[in-house]
Amino acid sequence: MTRMSMDHLLEQDFIRVTELAAIASAKTMGFGDRRHSDHVAVEAMRLEMDHLAMDGRVVIGEGERDKAPMLYVGEEVGARRGQPGAPQVDIAVDPLEGTNLCATGSPDSISVLAAAERGGLLHAPDVYMDKIVVGPTARGTVHIDAPVAENLRNIAGAFGRKVSDLTVVVLDRPRHEQLIADIRAAGARIRLITDGDLSAGISAAVRGTGVHAVMGIGGAPEGVITAAAMRCLGGEIQARLKATDAEQEERVKSMGFHDLSKIYKTEDLAPGEEILFSSTGVTDGELLRGVRFFGGGSRTSTLFMSLSRKIIRFVDTIHREQVTTPVRFL
Ligand code: FBP
Repeated sequence: MTRMSMDHLLEQDFIRVTELAAIASAKTMGFGDRRHSDHVAVEAMRLEMDHLAMDGRVVIGEGERDKAPMLYVGEEVGARRGQPGAPQVDIAVDPLEGTNLCATGSPDSISVLAAAERGGLLHAPDVYMDKIVVGPTARGTVHIDAPVAENLRNIAGAFGRKVSDLTVVVLDRPRHEQLIADIRAAGARIRLITDGDLSAGISAAVRGTGVHAVMGIGGAPEGVITAAAMRCLGGEIQARLKATDAEQEERVKSMGFHDLSKIYKTEDLAPGEEILFSSTGVTDGELLRGVRFFGGGSRTSTLFMSLSRKIIRFVDTIHREQVTTPVRFL
């Protein structure tokens, strides 16, 4: 497959996949049922995926085959599955990132898909991952094993500002007690989030969001998708897998990850050269507006990126249920 063929064939299609998943889950916003919100997003994404002219394979999905009925790891997707000459694409999905956020109508839930040529995205196990994420400005100045204060000094230096002018996003979890204390001691500001370290990671790579770094332990699948976004945005993630019990450790090792001390860099997590990334806002966020329904249709806000074509698109789409629905320009 040539470079341009994958991009051109699939760009609009991938945008539509995350748009439809976002619309489906946004319809359930605030219902208080995170599983249902996730389910409808998965269903919409899965359905749309099968219209795509590709021979696709899910490498990061909703779980292992026996646990997830749709978009499970290893599932083959796309209208040209197994066909010779079809673009062979590895896909990482998070149909609804921040299920609780959507269920409670809180900001920053998104629908996400990253894709690459075969082997272009690490098939990481569904365990935790220790991460540090910075944008292009601070790329190359941090190390996951460096003391928090040192990383913050380096990030501040890269931005040409004081540590006290930095904001670090951290998932609000008891496991981050020490990390939070260290960041506070260093003098940086903290934004504690209840969920969604993937959208926070993307924000860290975009100037103007007010996020300068994301630190701490979140999901490994989210880490791989963050890496795909960082490749497109020029940011950086460093990460290390975290198995929380013996059973997880066994599973991780059985998937070929024998060295749990290994540090994964951006290019280890997302080594592809033809990475595509699409993310649509479900609820309002820093970077993307959530889905707005106007009676007879909806409007979505999507971030689409292509590494090989070096483009970052913000796509504003009106989805009309009937062609007679009037369009309002706001
Ligand atoms: P879901 O979208 O599956 O609800 O995950 C949200 C999330 O907050 C991720 O952003 C984060 O990486 C992970 O969960 C953290 O896991 P935990 O809630 O177990 O700390």
